[in-house]
Amino acid sequence: MITLRPPGDKSISHRAVLFSSLADTDSSVGGLSSGEDVRSSVSVMRALGARLDLDTDPNGGLLLRVAGGARLSDPKSVLDCGNSGTTARLVSGILVGTGLEAVLDGDASLRSRPMRRVVYPLQAMGGNIEYLDASERLPLQFGRRASGALRTLRHRPRVASAQVKSALLLAGLTSRTRVGVLEPTLSRDHTERLLAGMGAPITFDPERRGEGEVHFDPAGWTGGLRGLDFRVPGDPSSAAFLIGAALLARRPIRVERVLANPGRIEFLNVMSEMGAIVQREPHGHEAGELVENWTVTPPRQLGPFEIAGHRIPLLIDEIPVLAVLASRARGRSRIRDAGELRTKESDRIAGLARNLETLGVRVEGRRDGLDVEGGFGRLEGVVRAGGDHRLAMAFGILEVGEDTAVTVDDPACASISYPGFWETLSAFRPAAGDPMRKGRTAATVAPEGAEPGRVIAIDGPAASGKSTTAHTVAEQLGYVHVNSGLFYRAITWWAIGRGLTESDPGFEAELRGLTIDLATGPEGLTVSVDGQRLGTELRGADVTAQVSAISTIPAVRATVLDRLREAGRRFSLVCDGRDIGTTVFPNADLKVYLVAEVPERARRRLQESNEPLTPEAIEAEAVRLDARDRADATRELSPLSKASDAIEIDTTGLSPTGVVDRIVRLARERGLGSPGLA
Ligand code: S3P
Repeated sequence: MITLRPPGDKSISHRAVLFSSLADTDSSVGGLSSGEDVRSSVSVMRALGARLDLDTDPNGGLLLRVAGGARLSDPKSVLDCGNSGTTARLVSGILVGTGLEAVLDGDASLRSRPMRRVVYPLQAMGGNIEYLDASERLPLQFGRRASGALRTLRHRPRVASAQVKSALLLAGLTSRTRVGVLEPTLSRDHTERLLAGMGAPITFDPERRGEGEVHFDPAGWTGGLRGLDFRVPGDPSSAAFLIGAALLARRPIRVERVLANPGRIEFLNVMSEMGAIVQREPHGHEAGELVENWTVTPPRQLGPFEIAGHRIPLLIDEIPVLAVLASRARGRSRIRDAGELRTKESDRIAGLARNLETLGVRVEGRRDGLDVEGGFGRLEGVVRAGGDHRLAMAFGILEVGEDTAVTVDDPACASISYPGFWETLSAFRPAAGDPMRKGRTAATVAPEGAEPGRVIAIDGPAASGKSTTAHTVAEQLGYVHVNSGLFYRAITWWAIGRGLTESDPGFEAELRGLTIDLATGPEGLTVSVDGQRLGTELRGADVTAQVSAISTIPAVRATVLDRLREAGRRFSLVCDGRDIGTTVFPNADLKVYLVAEVPERARRRLQESNEPLTPEAIEAEAVRLDARDRADATRELSPLSKASDAIEIDTTGLSPTGVVDRIVRLARERGLGSPGLA
C-alpha cells in the first residue's frame, strides 16, 4: 500500500491568504499550499499593504502568519496575479469593495481567460472597472468609486462559479453592502464556510446539493473578522492525480488528511463507477470542513464512465485526469456539459483531445466535452501541456501505467499547484528489488500492497459478530471488506420500492435490469442500486423483515454470487455472510466459522440496536434468532453450514479484539495480508 499526503488545498490556501489579510486579529495557518498560484495571492495582498509572513511549516507546506487589523492601501505597481484565476477574480471583489486604485494583470494564460463574469456584476454594484486592453480580459484598471456607497446586488450567474460568487461576497464584505448570489448548481463553498467561521454575517445551506442562494447581509453587523487558526487540509484535486496513478499502476493507495467537501470529491464516485473500491474514513474537521483518509483499491481493469449536468462543477478540475484514465478503460467514456473547461488555464477540451489523439487514443472532441474510446494498446508521444499544470500532471501519470512512453513537454508547470509532484509520482515506480523505496518529498511509501484475488471467508449464524469482525480484519490486513448481506438487503430494498414480492413471477425479469455497484461512504463500502447510494434504509424494519425471503430467490442469489466473485477476482477480500466458504468462495484462502451461544447473540443484537437488555427482551430475541438459524440452515439453496475446512471460533467468551486477533494470526500464518500493515 502506498501512503501519501497531498499538499494543502489550493482553494482554501488562497482564501486563507485573502481573508486573513482582511481580519481584525492575527492569523496563523499551517500546511498552506506552496504552489505558485498561492504565492501570487500572497504577493498581491502584500502589495496592497497586508502584513503576511511565510515560513516553512515543519509539518509540510508553508506556515502563514498574518498581523490583523492592517489597513489596505493603493499598490505602487501593477498587481501581478501570475497564472492564478482565483487570485485575479477574488482580488477584483476586494478592490471594488475597498475602492482602491490598482491595475490587475497576469501571465499570457490568465490574460486570455474571461473576466466579464466578475466585472459585469461588480460594475452593476457600482464598481469602477475598465478593461485596459482586450475587451473582457485582463489587464483591468480599478478606480475610486464615483458615488460613495455600492449598490445592493442579487446576482444569478449563468454558470456555477465559486470565483464569481466569492468575488461578489468579498465586494459586499469589504464595503458592507448586501449581496446575494443564486447559483444554478452548487460550486465549491469554501468562501462561505470560512467567512462565516470568521464571524461574517453570511448565510448559506451547507447541506445543499442543487440550486441555492448565498447571502451576505451586514445589517446590524458591528464586529469585524476574527483571524484564522487552522491547518489547511490536503488538496483533493492533487490527490486525484495520485489516485489516478495508483489506478494505472494497479496498486492500492491510501491518501491521508484530504479535504472532503462534497463540492470537491465527486471524482471519487466516478472512480468507483470505473471499478475502483474507495473507502472513506473520517479524520476530523478543519476550518469548518470535513477531512478524511481514503483508501482506493484499483480494479484489474478500469471501466468507462459518463459525466454531465450538475456533477460537472463538482469535479471540473479533475476532468483532465479522469479523461486520461478513460483512455486506459474498457469502453467509451463520455463527458458532457463541461464547456467551462475551455475557460481554464488553457482550453482543456482542446488540450485533452489533441494530446490523447497524439498518443494514439480515439477521441471525439465536442463543444461541451469529449468522448474517449479506451483501450490497452501502446500509448506513445510527446504531450504539449501548454503550460497548464493540470494537463501536465494528468498526462504525467500515464508513465506509471503499462505500455506507455509518454513525455510531457513542460513538467515544471506542475508547481503552479503541486510542487514536488514528479518526485511523488516516482513512488509508483519502486526500484527493482527495493519495494521499500522512499519517495523523495512528501511521499512515504509503504511496502507493496497485497495481491488481488485473496479471499478470507467468514461465515456464521445471525448476530455472531461476523460483520464487525470482518471489517476490522480487513482493515488490519489491508484487504477490502465485503458483506454479502449488504447486497441482499439492497435487492430487498429495491424490491419493496417496486412492490415486488418473492413470489412475483416478473421478479427475475425486473432483476435483470437492475445495476448494483459497490460505492463508498464515510462508513466504508456501501452499495448503490440503479445509481442510488443506500445507507440507513438498508437497516429499515421492512427490509429486515423481508430479506430472508428475498434471499431465497435463486436469481437473487445468482446475482449476488456473481457480484461477490467478480469482487474476489479483482481485489483481496474479507467477505462475510452465511455461505461464503461453502458456495461463494469454496477455494477461499482462509475460512472462519464464527459461533456464539444463542442468548449471547441475542444480547449483542439488542445492544446493537440500543434496546434495553431485560431478561424478557433477551429471551424473546433468542427465540427469533433460533427461528432464523433454523430457516437459514434448512433452506434449499445454500443453507447455512460450516465448510469442512473452516476453522470454528466460539466467540461467546471472547472480546471483539480477541476474535480479530485470532483471525489475523491465522491469516498471517498463511502468508495473507499486506506486510506493511500492523
Ligand atoms: C476555484 C474555483 C473553480 C476552479 C478553480 C479554483 C476556486 O473555478 O476551477 O480551479 O478556488 O474558487 P470557478 O468556480 O470559478 O469556475
